[in-house]
Amino acid sequence: MKPSASIYLHCDPTASHYLKLLMDAVFGVENFRTEIIWKRSSAHSDAKQGRAQHGRIHDVILFYTKTDAWFWNQVFMDYGREYIDAFYRHIEPDTGRRYQMGDLSAAKPGGDTQYEWRVKRRTGQEEWQSDLTEEWKSPKKGWEYKGIPPYKGRSWAYSKANMIEYAKAGRICYTTTGTPRYKRYLDEMPGVPLQDVWTDIGPIGARAAERLGYPTQKPEALLERIIQSSCPEGGVVLDPFCGCGTTVVAAHKLGRRWIGVDIMQLAINLIKNRLRDSFGEAAAYKVIGEPVSAPDAERLAESDPYQFQWWVLGLVGARPADQKKRADKGVDGKIIFQGDTPGVFETVILSVKAGKTGVAHVRDLKGVLEREAAAIGVLISMREPTRDMRTEAAAAGFYESATWGRKYPRLQLLTVADLLSGKTVDMPPIRQVGVTFKKAPKASGKGDSQGDLPL
Ligand SMILES: C[S@@+](CC[C@H](N)C(=O)[O-])C[C@H]1O[C@@H](n2cnc3c(N)ncnc32)[C@H](O)[C@@H]1O
Repeated sequence: MKPSASIYLHCDPTASHYLKLLMDAVFGVENFRTEIIWKRSSAHSDAKQGRAQHGRIHDVILFYTKTDAWFWNQVFMDYGREYIDAFYRHIEPDTGRRYQMGDLSAAKPGGDTQYEWRVKRRTGQEEWQSDLTEEWKSPKKGWEYKGIPPYKGRSWAYSKANMIEYAKAGRICYTTTGTPRYKRYLDEMPGVPLQDVWTDIGPIGARAAERLGYPTQKPEALLERIIQSSCPEGGVVLDPFCGCGTTVVAAHKLGRRWIGVDIMQLAINLIKNRLRDSFGEAAAYKVIGEPVSAPDAERLAESDPYQFQWWVLGLVGARPADQKKRADKGVDGKIIFQGDTPGVFETVILSVKAGKTGVAHVRDLKGVLEREAAAIGVLISMREPTRDMRTEAAAAGFYESATWGRKYPRLQLLTVADLLSGKTVDMPPIRQVGVTFKKAPKASGKGDSQGDLPL
């Protein structure tokens, strides 16, 4: 049977019971496989003083499959601290490597497995060692010698020749009675096969390099684990609520094809920047559903002015202004660039107008520029600016950059049609300071070319 799709639903524990019923109804209760507990923080503000309830520190991930046959790739989790302390207690003094002592006996005899393993040690010392040169035959003064047979009723797990090889490779250690044991190093073990309680992936808040500032961002390691275990290389990952694109980035990195869906233009802009920052311009993908013509843009502006605004700001690489801050009145977005003085950044202020525009809007923007001491102001409109608007804008003069030896108009008027034809803000190069939200760290992706998805 061909493997079918795996479905993961990530939910808040307070809603997981209802969502489980809903998922059962959609995918079939017989296709429910696992409830995964992700411990997303170690302490939470929920556990405030006086709250007569347990602090909530986990999320629930429900795992379903579409049919009885599904793809599974065994992935391993790190051993927990407690496990390591209990089972890998020994530490090699010279290398610092942790190891456990593995049994070298076997229940079944076979071949050369009933011999005495020869060991020696200096008299009065605790540590035994292999007597590979058979020194016991002509014993040295100050040394003691022993032949260790396998435990009663058992055999050695390896022939004498193999035991000698292990001893030469430093893989044999000894108990205080001289019994040989196999040295199993922690750093050579794959880890624990994936379990249903995940305590080893910390919250995004603790991952400064990864954090982009999107409120519901999840850690990449969480999505990587899900994708690695449930989707083959070259398979397709779909995240229909992809937010700032954690699933998309994890899938791209792991060489899976991907489809991300989000209703917010802000999220789409962020994902585009994140893909570029993580994988460079080589990351090949298509964006479907964004306006590609002025009439498309007009439709978006009519149906949802905020989405329109975010889409426009995304076209020029601007960061949306915080609408709630009073200080940002009249500012829809900003681009920050390095000014002439090292460490001092200048601001481009953007004002986006979906409807009618007139000279009053240019004057308002000029006022905002002065209030904010910004370098450049840009009015982006659907409609062509009037002659009066152009005259007013030209009267604002220029921002002069000594670094780039150039003048830039202080007030610029652009239309959506200009942006769609490739025109953009005339300003000094931003040199990586004007990206939307925070910059994503560079990553290497196996999936630089997605190929065509059947969309
Ligand atoms: C919880 S967030 C996802 C966060 C994501 N896992 C990440 O790491 O960034 C949910 C996302 O679903 C999007 N969303 C909400 N309703 C939607 C809908 N009807 N269609 C598509 N996306 C939607 C929201 O815009 C939001 O970005």
